[in-house]
Amino acid sequence: MRSLLQIARGLCDEAGFDHQVVNDLQLQAAVRRCYGNSPATGEDAQRLENDAAARTALLEELLVRESWFYRDQRPFEMLERMVPGEWRQRSSPLHILSAPCAAGEEPYSIGMALMLGGMPPQGFRIEAVDLSVQGLAKARAGRYRSGALRAVPARAEGICFRRTPEGDCVVEEALRERVWFHRGNLLEPGMLSGEPRFDIIFCRNLFIYLHTAARQALLDALERVLAPEGLLVVGHAEAALLRDRAFERQGSAGCFAFRRIPAGSRPVCDTHPTAPAPRRVSPKKPARSPAQVERPATPRHPAPARDTGPQLVQARALADHGHYAEARLLTQALLAVDPALVEAQHLMGLLNAAEGALAEARRCLERALYLDPAHVPSLEHLALLAESAGDGPGAARLRERAARAGAMA
Ligand SMILES: C[S@@+](CC[C@H](N)C(=O)[O-])C[C@H]1O[C@@H](n2cnc3c(N)ncnc32)[C@H](O)[C@@H]1O
Repeated sequence: MRSLLQIARGLCDEAGFDHQVVNDLQLQAAVRRCYGNSPATGEDAQRLENDAAARTALLEELLVRESWFYRDQRPFEMLERMVPGEWRQRSSPLHILSAPCAAGEEPYSIGMALMLGGMPPQGFRIEAVDLSVQGLAKARAGRYRSGALRAVPARAEGICFRRTPEGDCVVEEALRERVWFHRGNLLEPGMLSGEPRFDIIFCRNLFIYLHTAARQALLDALERVLAPEGLLVVGHAEAALLRDRAFERQGSAGCFAFRRIPAGSRPVCDTHPTAPAPRRVSPKKPARSPAQVERPATPRHPAPARDTGPQLVQARALADHGHYAEARLLTQALLAVDPALVEAQHLMGLLNAAEGALAEARRCLERALYLDPAHVPSLEHLALLAESAGDGPGAARLRERAARAGAMA
């Protein structure tokens, strides 16, 4: 008989999750949230094996549903701009897939952007898919706390949503009617099928949880259902996945939108035209030693090869909210492109420390210091680590160094 942990692991396997990203500590925490702190019994496990509703409840605990309206902003601004030029004269509605859709924030944002661009609701049809029953129930209700819509342009109020007397925001019926919600596992063969094919697919912030084979299977499935010159929008940390596929960048760098290239035109995707081609992110790869990290020509202020600021801000925000796996993958993606990013090395150190991987945390912070010997936050965190390891004199030396560096800054 399988234990509760093994059953939880089985649920993750069905969803395609990478064991390194959704690890046993997270599974144990999810089991505890469902079954309390007392050790689970064989009876609990037997009941779970036989009870589909109980397994769904446990799965809900494993899913990270975090999403928000106009997440990353730029893809939605791009859609709005494309309405007058590209789509106003269309004879058939734009067919759009938002998968995964969490609690509806993404598909409704897509609809809002199109409506703000001047497209009537009948001009589009959005299919929205997610594995989470709870997320979909909220999505169908279309009611959110007012803060959830803070990134939506103010002019959308009264057109796309309205406020209730209690201060909540309710998505307008005309928009809700254009979004069809479905529950499904995107990794299930045949889940994504049907005609007509999609003109636009949003698939953001799911690949980062998946193991390599699941990522490739999902990308293959998305390619099959994308129209010949369709648009695929992915998340910050996910663009590198398209490197070997026939896509070209659409819109500005922060959109992470890619236009499919018709067969025979051009073979490979250009995901980062101005930066070196990113390596595929692999959370299993051991980190490189400081000596292997290329030291920038000007260590104090390394010139960034591209604007990594928004991704770092996002990674930090995720870390602040306790979403370590997402923060880690985003940071790894940044470091895969440029290992000399001091702030990313520093953040990786903090993430490792937060997860108890103290030796690795030290290595990352030392790498940050190798790149910028006067990086005060890294000096301070190394001092804390030294202190908790009982190395008082080492901690004191690091603090002195931090004070000197701070005074010179
Ligand atoms: C972090 S949210 C991303 C939502 C949205 N795309 C965004 O970027 O804000 C990840 C979502 O993926 C869903 N999910 C995870 N694995 C899935 C799977 N195998 N099939 C469908 N949905 C899945 C979760 O329920 C969750 O709502």
